[in-house]
Amino acid sequence: MVILAPSLLASDFSNLEREIKKVYMEGGGCAYLHLDVMDGVFVKNISFGAPVIASIRKVCGIIFDVHLMITNPIRYVPDFAGAGADIITFHCEACGDSEEIWRTVELIKANGKKCAISIKPKTPVDAILPFLGELDMVLVMSVEPGFGGQKFIEGALDKISELYRIKTEKNYGFDIEVDGGVTLGNLKKIKEAGANVIVAGSSIFGAADVAGTIRRFMDV
Ligand code: DX5
Ligand code: ZN
Repeated sequence: MVILAPSLLASDFSNLEREIKKVYMEGGGCAYLHLDVMDGVFVKNISFGAPVIASIRKVCGIIFDVHLMITNPIRYVPDFAGAGADIITFHCEACGDSEEIWRTVELIKANGKKCAISIKPKTPVDAILPFLGELDMVLVMSVEPGFGGQKFIEGALDKISELYRIKTEKNYGFDIEVDGGVTLGNLKKIKEAGANVIVAGSSIFGAADVAGTIRRFMDV
């Protein structure tokens, strides 16, 4: 089963409740909402943090897929868990060493949340091999993190295939999520490579007919 996770980053921030309802209800019917947290340090952009997530938590029961693009993620895990995240994704590049990655994974799980690690376009799958057996999801970035509306980097497809091969060989349970530059035009090859959680920001929230676009995504 493929899950579509619209990214709120591409929505109209002046009315988040209305924007979320477009993908959650009103014919949208998505199970996940992708929430991009950026600190202006790990990436060159600032988006929103735990207080905004806690506010929108009150207006919908959709699964919150929180993508932390921040330095020192371990420090903020309790905040995002408390704000209502269901899945917490952090970047391995944001951690000092593998010991810190392990501690972050453990803390996310101790908070009762699903745990995912993300890799930037230049980071190989090898960087997260030791952790794969413990993860609920791996997020493969298909653009440099920081901004929506960028072009899909084709090299992400090889990493998705590699992760899919490892997952099958070792019988691991993690989902494979792809994030950045996903469109109706490249979705088929992304799914064929093995991704089963699809983030899409501008292609969904930027569409004139959001519900119709979601249906077309699901039909691919
Ligand atoms: C980028 C974010 C993405 C972004 C995707 O750093 O992680 O989730 O919202 O936006 P699109 O789909 O427009 O590339
Ligand atoms: Zn994201």
